[in-house]
Amino acid sequence: MATTDLAALAKKASEAAYVPYSHFRVGAVLESSDGRLFTGCNIENISFGLTNCAERTAIFKAISEGVREFKSLTIYGETKDPISPCGACRQVLSEFCPPEMSVTLLSSDLTAKTMTLGELLPYRFTDLD
Ligand code: THU
Repeated sequence: MATTDLAALAKKASEAAYVPYSHFRVGAVLESSDGRLFTGCNIENISFGLTNCAERTAIFKAISEGVREFKSLTIYGETKDPISPCGACRQVLSEFCPPEMSVTLLSSDLTAKTMTLGELLPYRFTDLD
């Protein structure tokens, strides 16, 4: 899907955000290699640490449907500059998505910054030994 369409979809996904505590909406669209689209929004909880970010909502939806190959991620935030995704989401994404995958970060006015997942999370945790 075209970058501008993914941006519009990420913004649209943010409208479903459940954010009674931060009032900060985030939307994400994860595109699988076969062209399927998985949207996500942030879902907060009164026990704040249980909040799920938009990016993890999107990837958990895809993984739970058996999808394992991805080609792009687009993230929209109500931010002045393109949103910088949290470290927890970077690590979760790097479990399933290749370092060369394209990630587009968007601000509230849809200014875009595109990079690879490897650039977003260099030197990811990978060794258990
Ligand atoms: N949030 C996301 O959904 N994605 C990010 O990349 C950064 C933070 C959410 C979590 C919480 O609901 C709100 O934004 C404020 O931290």
